[in-house]
Amino acid sequence: KDSVNEYEEVDDREKKPNYEQKKWEEEQMSSAVFRFGAKNKESQDREYDLVLDSQIDFIRALSMPGTKEKPEERPMTEKQKKRMTIEETQKSLPVYKFKDDLIAAIQAHQVLIIEGETGSGKTTQIPQYLYQAGFTKDNKKIGCTQPRRVAAMSVAARVAEEMNVKLGNEVGYSIRFEDCTSERTVIKYMTDGTLHREFLSEPDLLSYSVMMIDEAHERTLHTDILFGLVKDIARFRPDLKLLISSATLDAEKFSSFFDDAPIFRIPGRRFPVDIYYTKAPEADYIDACVVSILQIHATQPLGDILVFLTGQEEIETCQEILSDRVRRLGTRVKELLILPVYANLPSDLQAKIFEPTPPGARKVVLATNIAETSLTIDNIIYVIDPGFCKQNNFNSRTGMESLVVVPVSKASANQRAGRAGRVAAGKCFRLYTAWAYKHELEDNTVPEIQRVNLGNVVLMLKALGINDLVHFDFLDPPPHETLVLALEQLYALGALNHHGELTKLGRRMAEFPLDPMMGKMLLASEKYKCSEEIVSIAAMLSVNSAIFYRPKDKLVHADTARKNFFLPGGDHLVLCNIYKQWADSDYSTQWCYENYIQYRSMKRARDVREQLVGLMERVEMEIVSNHGDTVAIRKAITAGYFYHIARLSKAGSYKTVKHNQTVMIHPNSSLFEELPRWVVYYELVFTTKEYMRQASEIESKWLLEVAPHYYKPKELEDSTNMKFSKNIGKTREELRT
Ligand code: CDP
Ligand code: MG
Repeated sequence: KDSVNEYEEVDDREKKPNYEQKKWEEEQMSSAVFRFGAKNKESQDREYDLVLDSQIDFIRALSMPGTKEKPEERPMTEKQKKRMTIEETQKSLPVYKFKDDLIAAIQAHQVLIIEGETGSGKTTQIPQYLYQAGFTKDNKKIGCTQPRRVAAMSVAARVAEEMNVKLGNEVGYSIRFEDCTSERTVIKYMTDGTLHREFLSEPDLLSYSVMMIDEAHERTLHTDILFGLVKDIARFRPDLKLLISSATLDAEKFSSFFDDAPIFRIPGRRFPVDIYYTKAPEADYIDACVVSILQIHATQPLGDILVFLTGQEEIETCQEILSDRVRRLGTRVKELLILPVYANLPSDLQAKIFEPTPPGARKVVLATNIAETSLTIDNIIYVIDPGFCKQNNFNSRTGMESLVVVPVSKASANQRAGRAGRVAAGKCFRLYTAWAYKHELEDNTVPEIQRVNLGNVVLMLKALGINDLVHFDFLDPPPHETLVLALEQLYALGALNHHGELTKLGRRMAEFPLDPMMGKMLLASEKYKCSEEIVSIAAMLSVNSAIFYRPKDKLVHADTARKNFFLPGGDHLVLCNIYKQWADSDYSTQWCYENYIQYRSMKRARDVREQLVGLMERVEMEIVSNHGDTVAIRKAITAGYFYHIARLSKAGSYKTVKHNQTVMIHPNSSLFEELPRWVVYYELVFTTKEYMRQASEIESKWLLEVAPHYYKPKELEDSTNMKFSKNIGKTREELRT
């Protein structure tokens, strides 16, 4: 008897007799009360508001009838799990039964759409099947793209383990700033952005025999562009096999885009999931998450919990509060392992989420969207879904891009809920009302191509020689204004000439895996003789995770340490200063520790910097230092980021020059108490207000020097006589509010 049956037996025990898989969507709508302990007869009519004072609520939950009963066994015990070898696991995956049919279908058709429930084994198994079937003969590789870095890395690690090879040898991965492949690599996982770049050096993808565009349903910007590119290539490379794989829904759409390519469906295995909604909207969903986790832990049979949060910061906050409460509860509760997962999490910590939970304990995974479809964590029985995600939104009117937290779509919410029903019947707790689900959530998430800045993509396509972007084969075309804006921006940066053709500068910019503004900044540093400093700044900006370490019990020390790095001129110079001091310490760990700097972030910055230096050498740029001429450094920054300029308007607040949008200096900025007249910023983040992250002081006349075709002297005149204003006398906290 194979393990599939084992799962199903468990399922029967859990399943309510009248529960039909097809009906669960309807059921979701009717089970509109968030009710804990519903499994026990006596507690059936007890409803718990999440917003109750959590401790009292929790104690009450502990004494609820039924909670002292012997916990049910997990769907698969650890012992069973250990016995289950890799081979058995592979055989238990839904895709396994279709191995031969799938290979036959791939042999028969050039393009195949593959649809299967998340966790059915598409990503990890299909490349291995192809390898076994001989698709890597003649020195060819099997490529597989992933929208997310973490997924590419962790899936490659898993497949290397399954094939019993060292990661980076036969199985490898390639992501921006990190290539873990070798001559021997035959199965290569990569991000969609990385494949996009590979087109520049290998426009016909000649080294691949199969290309699998995976997680196609995610519809990321790069995946969408890849559809058009690979479709084109397939025409003149009849020997190249194309697989478009996706979790759900969109198969027909992909099929018709690829000239009615056949669809191969892997029948899913999904157990029913009970959906619970809160009775009223939650004011603080982090707190609601913590309470829900504890309630589940206290009242529900063992089984792991998956919580969807929007980003690293939220995950860390939640982790902190939760650990604290668990600690205070001591031995009154069973062991609860708290594991975070998000894009910037170091890979050794990422691997932890896949480790089996020790017997008698429960695991709670705090994840971003990444766990929605890209990563499958076994044994999840409970899902907590606050209903939000972080989205990059671009306003084509103002040309401003910012990261905002938005409600998820119905499709996303259902995908999230489905994660609870992979190994047995599960439960999903939505921290919003049934009404909100029905009336406030959009049906589907808008594809990224229709809501982000296209500057980067347009530059890449131009570099590939695709000039007529309006007639590019898009699955869903981007809004016309966004395309025009991207062209204008590239023109203003000097990457395109007035015929819309790539200039020499544009060609060099395309060599760097950087946003066009950052690419331009880097190239401009040549003129200002400060490439040494600018490449450090670019590397530090690219790290995109916290540089400073602020432990709760040492806030004062940490903040003092941070301020010691401040230099007149602004945050970019601070970043440069930190990097230089660290390099002077011989990249010391101890130095980081003493200065409250995150060693991991610095290490990553160093890797990124090395790669960028390599690319700079390739385009024959000299690496030179101007030994601290901060005007030159800031001019180079402005030459790239002249779209991101703001002028002081009244105490504490700024207006962007072209669109008159109100923005603020971030409280963590070194300029927070300075408030210079003009600033250039790296990006906007929207929390309670629109904040500029990484800002530096500039002089308005530099704009005429670095972007004469974009700024007119009139726009840069100061309209008020306001004196240089300082927030003297006010504390940070006062200004924060
Ligand atoms: O791609 P799809 O969602 O169809 O499934 P998959 O990612 O290939 O996952 C198949 C199995 O591999 C699941 O049971 C995962 O738990 C397991 N897996 C793993 O153990 N470690 C990983 N890093 C990725 C997948
Ligand atoms: Mg997958």
